[in-house]
Amino acid sequence: MYFVANWKMFGDLKGLNSLNDVIKFAMKNKRKNFKVIYCPPSTLIFPLFKKFKNTPIDLGGQNSHESENYGPYTGSINSKMLMDVGAKYLILGHSENRQSGENDRLINLKIKSALKIGLKIIFCIGETLKEKQNNKTNQILSNQIKIGLNGIKNKSKIIIAYEPVWSIGTGLIPKLSDLNSLILFIKKKFKNKSQKILYGGSVNENNINQLKTINSVDGFLVGAASQDAKKFIDIIKKTYN
Ligand code: 13P
Repeated sequence: MYFVANWKMFGDLKGLNSLNDVIKFAMKNKRKNFKVIYCPPSTLIFPLFKKFKNTPIDLGGQNSHESENYGPYTGSINSKMLMDVGAKYLILGHSENRQSGENDRLINLKIKSALKIGLKIIFCIGETLKEKQNNKTNQILSNQIKIGLNGIKNKSKIIIAYEPVWSIGTGLIPKLSDLNSLILFIKKKFKNKSQKILYGGSVNENNINQLKTINSVDGFLVGAASQDAKKFIDIIKKTYN
């Protein structure tokens, strides 16, 4: 199982001490079959890289520019730069970036560029509330996958994160039966039957007991609750209890 912490635009240097408990927990449970990945803001990747040295915890970025070369793109960071400071993974296609203008084609370019550099991708897909109400969920997910992964033959470095937009930051989670069928629907789109699919959207230390009952899910992408080390550890612990 994957437990991915997406810190979004939260976090500073002095807050990193709170991760000592996560490190302790991860070291103690090294043999268990789970992977913890922190995706902090880019400013914290290198400090965390040093902190996580010799631990099983990996790091990821939250977005990147589509060019794998340097260029005159003020304010941007590319995959190579993220990898240079210690990232192994990269979240792409997050709905918060889609809402500010990223389309499937641009996300496709970003995925290709990051794969070329050698990052593993956490590719976010998900429908809005309106799309859900109009029974468009399957079509939206199919399109996001089709265009986002267009031209990418080897998908072994890609993890899909199903994040319904209406669930992110709202405390709402899908009906478990809906979630299970959607994850199976997504899995069917891949030749490789062990394609990893995560769920994200209001995952917390309370609803994890329900969410973990979904057999088809390969892990969780956690926003707000991942900023609190205790809650994040609780989520992992409860998944296995
Ligand atoms: P929340 O867990 O805060 O709802 O955020 C989910 C998310 O967007 C993770 O990428």
